[in-house]
Amino acid sequence: MYSKKIKAEIVSQDQLTDDVFSMNIKSEEIASEAHSGQFVSLYSKDGSRLLPRPISICDVNKEENKIRLVYRTVGAGTKEFSQLKSGDMIDIIGPIGNGYDIDSLKEYDSVILMGGGIGIPPMLRLARELRDAGLEKDQVSVILGYRDVTFLLEEFEDIATVYISSDFGTVGFKGNVIEAAKEYKVRGDVICACGPKPMLSAVKAYASEKGIPAFISLEERMACGVGACLACVCKTTEIDDHSKVKNARICVDGPVFNAEEVEL
Ligand code: FES
Repeated sequence: MYSKKIKAEIVSQDQLTDDVFSMNIKSEEIASEAHSGQFVSLYSKDGSRLLPRPISICDVNKEENKIRLVYRTVGAGTKEFSQLKSGDMIDIIGPIGNGYDIDSLKEYDSVILMGGGIGIPPMLRLARELRDAGLEKDQVSVILGYRDVTFLLEEFEDIATVYISSDFGTVGFKGNVIEAAKEYKVRGDVICACGPKPMLSAVKAYASEKGIPAFISLEERMACGVGACLACVCKTTEIDDHSKVKNARICVDGPVFNAEEVEL
């Protein structure tokens, strides 16, 4: 779990598409702890934006003490991050959140990962951790839902069986990730997914129809990412021991939840 804000050095910044960037940040503190499904919160240098911006961890290089963030520029904060160059410093907190439980996932014979849009990057680290835990390429199917152009595709293809889709069929199958799963008859005993809320609702319904568990990351609904704004509260099916009400803060209690346990 994270503790404090630190200063970390940007090691590299690459532009992957018109608005998707890949940034490597060096921090032994964060890289040594980080795993799939967690995120970091980055602070803007602009004092008018006090709350940090949460960004999921796309990959971790523990030997070189680096984390990789792949993010889309959606506003002034992420635009500012995209202009940072190698050698620049950034204020950062992390890793934050529970992440995926690899010990339980590796017990399944086959795992389906579904990533939609900017929910794709965290699936890369998850695929690597499943491979490192002993799952073969044919045991991990990844369905990637793009808007129009692909990114990170080759890296996924190295470690998993990959299917792609896009809304208008610009790349891959024309349709969403669930339609692609049906079209390609993708089989699996458990689903892990990250993406926009309508996609996660569809994943939840699909998993329940198939009678398999789904672990979904609700990171799209976070705001500050450090437990400070309460903008991320979601309804849960069970009463929280602490608060005695049926809700959870996505950033602190998640962002990964068993789909059965949250109302979308
Ligand atoms: Fe601000 Fe969770 S995102 S409290």
